[in-house]
Amino acid sequence: MEKIKVQVCLGTTCFVMGGANLQELNDIIPRKYGDKVEVVGSNCLGLCSIQWEYSKAPYVKVDDEVVHEATVEKVLEMIDKKLGK
Ligand code: FES
Repeated sequence: MEKIKVQVCLGTTCFVMGGANLQELNDIIPRKYGDKVEVVGSNCLGLCSIQWEYSKAPYVKVDDEVVHEATVEKVLEMIDKKLGK
């Protein structure tokens, strides 16, 4: 099975809007999923600039799916969904 790739946006907007808390994912994901899921930090994913006023930062991408207003829980839920749990 292909690894699931999680990209946590570390761009300024996302970071300021709560992305800083998402750094926990770097610890939680390997512990919970081992090598089934890869987590990486990313520069601005380009999502915050679309309709800035309605920005739903912080953003995380799980493969091609975007998690907006991301929290640790929301990201883990998306991963579980992808893994078919
Ligand atoms: S800073 Fe996160 S999408 Fe731009």
